[in-house]
Amino acid sequence: MIRTPLALVPYLIALAAVIGGLLSYAGDRSVGASQGTAAIGGPFALADQNGAPRTDKDFRGQYLLIYFGYTFCPDVCPTTLSVMGDAMEKLGPLSERVTPVFVTVDPARDTPKVLKAYLKSFGPRFVGLTGSADAIAKISREYAVYAAKEPLQGGGYAMTHSNTIYLMGPNGKFLTHYDEAIGPDALAVKLKDQIAGTGNPA
Ligand code: NI
Repeated sequence: MIRTPLALVPYLIALAAVIGGLLSYAGDRSVGASQGTAAIGGPFALADQNGAPRTDKDFRGQYLLIYFGYTFCPDVCPTTLSVMGDAMEKLGPLSERVTPVFVTVDPARDTPKVLKAYLKSFGPRFVGLTGSADAIAKISREYAVYAAKEPLQGGGYAMTHSNTIYLMGPNGKFLTHYDEAIGPDALAVKLKDQIAGTGNPA
């Protein structure tokens, strides 16, 4: 992501509202499950880094660690993907229960081939997802992800984008979220807690 704090303010307020709603909902056991506020996640149909079609249903039974970014990102994306990849290593055999997923917000440039070459640096378990502009817009809405093109001096463009790692449960439902500041050690501990069923959703 390119850091443009002012441009991100309206998005951050919206995200805070969504997360706040989710957390207050999660904390109120008296509310029926069918009466939830806006939820993170939803169905998708995309292609992975091998060009194979993948849908949300393919990942049932796995914890998903989902991050949205783009391969040309100069700073935060590689940092975040390194944290995710290192946490996978620290999980040891438990990493088989978790699939780290990188969804591009720049499908025009991030073809399956580009994703495949890029993700090699971050570990063997990553699934890269890309698709049509419409399909990426849909999954971005479902995950409350903000992304916008920013023209660069001298040509080309960068993408300003939100910076949240979502943890989805084996049933496909949102569990919690992190960002790269957590670091690989703490992320691995949190994931172990979640898998052991002792995870604090906050
Ligand atoms: Ni980025």
